[in-house]
Amino acid sequence: MEPTDGSFSRNWPAGYHRVPFWLYSDPAVYEREQQRIFSGPNWCYAALSAEIPQPGDFKRSVVGDKPVVVTRDKEGGINVVVNRCAHRGVQFCRRDFGNASDFMCPYHQWTYDLKGNLRGVPFRRGLKQQGGMPEDFKLEEHALQRLQVTERHGVIFAAFDPHVPSLEEYLGPSMLFYFDRVFDGRELRVLGYMRQRIRSNWKLMFENIKDPYHASLLHVFLVTFGLFRADQPSAVKMDETGRHAVLVSRRGEQKASEGTQEMKSFRANFTLTDPTLLTPVKEFPGDATVVMQTLWPNLIVQQQSNTLAMRQLVTRGPDAFDLLWTFFGYADDSDEMTLLRLRQANLMGPSGLVSIDDSEMMELSQHGIGQYPDATAVIELGGRDARDEEHMVTEAPVRGFYKYYREAMDL
Ligand code: FES
Ligand SMILES: [Fe+2]
Repeated sequence: MEPTDGSFSRNWPAGYHRVPFWLYSDPAVYEREQQRIFSGPNWCYAALSAEIPQPGDFKRSVVGDKPVVVTRDKEGGINVVVNRCAHRGVQFCRRDFGNASDFMCPYHQWTYDLKGNLRGVPFRRGLKQQGGMPEDFKLEEHALQRLQVTERHGVIFAAFDPHVPSLEEYLGPSMLFYFDRVFDGRELRVLGYMRQRIRSNWKLMFENIKDPYHASLLHVFLVTFGLFRADQPSAVKMDETGRHAVLVSRRGEQKASEGTQEMKSFRANFTLTDPTLLTPVKEFPGDATVVMQTLWPNLIVQQQSNTLAMRQLVTRGPDAFDLLWTFFGYADDSDEMTLLRLRQANLMGPSGLVSIDDSEMMELSQHGIGQYPDATAVIELGGRDARDEEHMVTEAPVRGFYKYYREAMDL
């Protein structure tokens, strides 16, 4: 592509099995991602419906790096509006969650209803016949900017671009199948939150979750206790575009195999004092015990044994992002099941027995990548194309991601 602003004159070799490192540090790339991806025709995860069950409930959220508020209006409808006053731009909503009948901006007290309509402007008619807004000032012309909203089985997505396709079309049949596997229409119950700032580019998070290669090598915990290993029945699948993916696998035993010789993190003699940490209870159809789904451009749906979580990515410039974890179960879970989900959540989050390895690797990646913008990554495990496989000795979903990224970014 011809660079439009002169900043993309750097080279990206043909294909998507090589990824140049300037993509992870160039502020102009970051700006373009905000415009074309996070504000483009893509459904960005915003909230769970269970977080705002009652009329007047609201939650602050973020789309890309843009603050928004998700509200439940008096009619029960869901709205996503920018957290930016139409007057002079103040981020008016300062609580993460709450219930309100309207929002009043603290600066000059413009007031908005739950749908974002401007309802009141102090001194609109002036004071003692002096000042005030011009005669032709109309409240209805100064509503909060509203995003497109869709909800499926309790999951709320938003998009800045009105030309976004239906969520079903956006996900495609195979990704919809895995989405509905966890979100089958049962009411959800939020169990808790974790959040962390990771000092790396946001794309490294997607690469990490789309990369089964590292899981068998890096994570002592997964490999040793058989939760996720390259020598177990598994698959990687993508939608037609390559932008979404799932890693599917089945729990195995703690035993050595031909494969474990190459897995330096395998420890045959490690045991858990409390094995219930890992004992899964079967709850979904089929025999997969782990399904990690990455949904373009800001969501990971985690199902590892019985711990379920939304992981929302919030970009914070080229070299940092926030990862917001929302752990959940179902409203009809027994107390034992809730306890199990919470116990297994110890694998996850900033200090999780497994996830702690990933955030460290992403930061180390950024340290290497950031200083060598003209070098490239080599992504050739399993070939140079991006297709579904019935094994996990492949980086195909990472290639799929960059195949679509190149198109979306026009690079
Ligand atoms: S900036 Fe919000 S009322 Fe003035
Ligand atoms: Fe990992």
